[in-house]
Amino acid sequence: MDKLIVEGGHRLSGTVNISGSKNASLPILAAALLTDEPVRISRVPDVSDTNYMIQILSQLGASVERSSGTVRIESPDGISSSASYEQVRKMRASICLLGPMMARMHRCTLPLPGGCVIGDRPVDLHLRAIQALGARVRVKGGNMVIEAPNGLVGTTVDMRGDSGPTVLGTDNLMMAAVLAKGTTIIESAAREPEVVDLANFLNKMGARIEGAGSRTITIHGVEKLHGCEHTVIPDRIEAGTFMVAGVMNVSDGITLNRVCREHMKSISDLLVECGHVVQYNEEGTSVFVKPGERPCSGKILTNPYPGYPTDMQAQMTALFALTPGISVVKDTIFPQRFMHCSELKRMGANIKVDNGTAIITGVDGLSGAPVMASDLRASAALVLAALAAEGTTDIHRLYHIDRGYEMLDDKLEILGARVKRVLDEDSGLGED
Ligand code: EPZ
Repeated sequence: MDKLIVEGGHRLSGTVNISGSKNASLPILAAALLTDEPVRISRVPDVSDTNYMIQILSQLGASVERSSGTVRIESPDGISSSASYEQVRKMRASICLLGPMMARMHRCTLPLPGGCVIGDRPVDLHLRAIQALGARVRVKGGNMVIEAPNGLVGTTVDMRGDSGPTVLGTDNLMMAAVLAKGTTIIESAAREPEVVDLANFLNKMGARIEGAGSRTITIHGVEKLHGCEHTVIPDRIEAGTFMVAGVMNVSDGITLNRVCREHMKSISDLLVECGHVVQYNEEGTSVFVKPGERPCSGKILTNPYPGYPTDMQAQMTALFALTPGISVVKDTIFPQRFMHCSELKRMGANIKVDNGTAIITGVDGLSGAPVMASDLRASAALVLAALAAEGTTDIHRLYHIDRGYEMLDDKLEILGARVKRVLDEDSGLGED
């Protein structure tokens, strides 16, 4: 187990390339199961979540080759329709195997996903969707055993849950519907760019999907899908994370290449509202950010895309901790997603968390301290705070960061940060 030692206070400047999107890659990798022909997917980030997915696909019987950022997958007939608890427990997002397995094999056995630190992660909407297409669901020994002996038949499904649309639920229904008989209409669909990227990938395979990116997606079932080539969209959350680094008070301004301005609107708008400089190039593929002269506090209410992303609120909390005034963060999607706040308070932040809302009063400075990463984005928030803190911060349980940030320490070093990844003798720091 590694930890990251961050020496705070070093000035940041320079340019980094943003990687391909983890959250677009995961369902697209799973969608490779929908055809027996080879698919080639480029700009898949080398992070543990995508590597877990690649391992699972191989264990199911697909042949998978990765050379640098490109992954080639071939899923011959006879691949397995069940993934084991050992494989799946490491990554909740493996639920997105459900759709392709049901479309290709009309059956699947997947462990019920456990919860995680950002909250309960139910799958009731996924099951509602697949049952609507004619599947039967049983729970046996902690597994979902799902069967559709007569195949799947298209219908209209409203995917809205109590907390709004579901990203992977929309993905699963789309992937189940592409080979179903007839037409499927998804109401209250998630509009995230990663859902659109999956729809584009499926259409390249010969699917007939319309309306991805809107609240209503229509899928006309087809007989068979073929292989294709695809390049994954940029990771808007990695880009957002680095934009926050670029406006922290230790930054002289940084440039991020390989971004997509259109996907970053709510993230960019909030930084501008808080007084910072955000300048895109004409094509919107590169952005320069630097701290404003008079940064001001802000207010976040997370919402499904195109609203402010829940995956960015922890990173902004690190910025708000050092911004004069009182900022407010309310997460309507994952109300418990505030694990980073207790660790930021160990560094001197002034944060009160109550009932899904964090009230952050800016302080003049943070001080380095040993802290513990908890979930992917909370860990990123701790790295951001450590960059601006006085003194050294040891961030334990670095594996949380390695799930979704490709070469984060290398990229930070390119920007002038002093970070060092070392083996962590004392990863404990108390109970899990
Ligand atoms: C995706 O998770 C992302 N993960 C998450 O990013 C992201 O936080 C989340 O969408 C919300 O944007 C991937 O794409 C791999 P949801 P997903 O289903 O699809 C409730 C990161 O940091 N819900 O859109 O699993 C759920 O509890 C990760 O990269 C149900 O009630 O999230 C939540 O409150 C973390 N029943 C809301 O919907 C269901 O069946 C949105 O969850 C499914 C979800």
